[in-house]
Amino acid sequence: MTQAAASPAPERDFGIYIHVPFCSVRCGYCDFNTYAPGETDGATPASYVEAALREMAFARSVMSDDPRPASTVFFGGGTPTLLDAGALAKLLDGVRSTWGLIVDAEVTTEANPDSVSARSLAALAEASFTRVSFGMQSAVPHVLATLDRTHRPENVSRGVAWARDVGLATSVDLIYGTPGESLADWRDSVDAALGFEPDHISAYALVIEPGTRMGVQLRRGEVAPTDPDVQADMYELADEAFTAAGFEWYEVSNWARTAADRCRHNLGYWTSQDWWGIGPGAHSYLGPDEARQARRWWNVKHPRAYAERLSAGLSPEQEGEPLSAEDLDLEQIMLGLRLADGIPCPPGRADAVARLIADGLVDGRAALGGTLKLTRRGRLLADRAVRELTA
Ligand SMILES: C[S@@+](CC[C@H](N)C(=O)[O-])C[C@H]1O[C@@H](n2cnc3c(N)ncnc32)[C@H](O)[C@@H]1O
Ligand code: SF4
Repeated sequence: MTQAAASPAPERDFGIYIHVPFCSVRCGYCDFNTYAPGETDGATPASYVEAALREMAFARSVMSDDPRPASTVFFGGGTPTLLDAGALAKLLDGVRSTWGLIVDAEVTTEANPDSVSARSLAALAEASFTRVSFGMQSAVPHVLATLDRTHRPENVSRGVAWARDVGLATSVDLIYGTPGESLADWRDSVDAALGFEPDHISAYALVIEPGTRMGVQLRRGEVAPTDPDVQADMYELADEAFTAAGFEWYEVSNWARTAADRCRHNLGYWTSQDWWGIGPGAHSYLGPDEARQARRWWNVKHPRAYAERLSAGLSPEQEGEPLSAEDLDLEQIMLGLRLADGIPCPPGRADAVARLIADGLVDGRAALGGTLKLTRRGRLLADRAVRELTA
């Protein structure tokens, strides 16, 4: 199938992801497709906005059916809030005029705590954004320094309070297992995050990719990797503290105050809904159509190449792949098993399921009822559980 035949199916939600590929500084641990000043080869936020609007028009021209309104829009990065609120509102208007938005659409932007003000957040709320996700990472200065974070810890509480004051739902991202971070440091970050009273918290184990600056430091022995057992203790500490404060986990790395506070956009990825990714390096996925054919594709990575292709009237797609029914079954296990709601027991996997129950990784009672749900130990070993089920 080509993009020309692509269309989201009415039985699935449709989300729009907008990738903003700029950061004021590249953090040493970050492997995302983002560019600091000096790395953009002439691409600017203004040229990016024009290119992204062009991609929306292109998307509409290749979609076969009437536009289906988006249920969610997620501005990710990079640092979307390096664009001013007017530019973000213009992109959201682009989504509205291209596809429309459902009445209670969730519209999120990621934000670096330093790149918002009371005024910019009020302008985003005014433009129908509903949610802001702050990159907090840690509350401890030496941990923030190791992560190359430039924001001051107090800017997070200020940002969350400003966002709440104008009616935006709030989330904070934390990272655990930074080299040199102790369990006591992590407890301080967890307590600080809870003290801001956000609606949602994400806590990610630090992944150090070989190609990043921190990956090089690790190879040279300049930083020490965190012991996996300590990282597991950090996860348990966070889960206990979040649960005691009234949050509920709904995905291995995500906790929400109520079911209504879960991130609907990310749930769309994890439950194989449809989405179109706008921007350099953005990925898109449209699930099975009438011919039972699903497809994923991704855009060229550099913002300059991206803008040039769209200016020339070309698709920004770099590559894509059809997904077979087996691929989709595998993805449902990989992504769905990480959700608190679990997945239906995969057929033909009784031995693997029995092993996972015996090892305490999945809930035996739920499995008897036909649903696989991870226990807390299973959440710590989710990758192993997926491997057992897909081997
Ligand atoms: C793409 S970033 C965008 C947010 C924003 N640029 C910021 O960092 O403040 C989204 C989140 O991914 C997480 N993240 C990025 N790199 C990571 C890594 N190597 N390991 C674990 N989490 C990571 C961070 O928690 C970050 O807030
Ligand atoms: S600010 Fe966020 S996206 Fe930018 S380099 Fe740091 S972690 Fe990556």
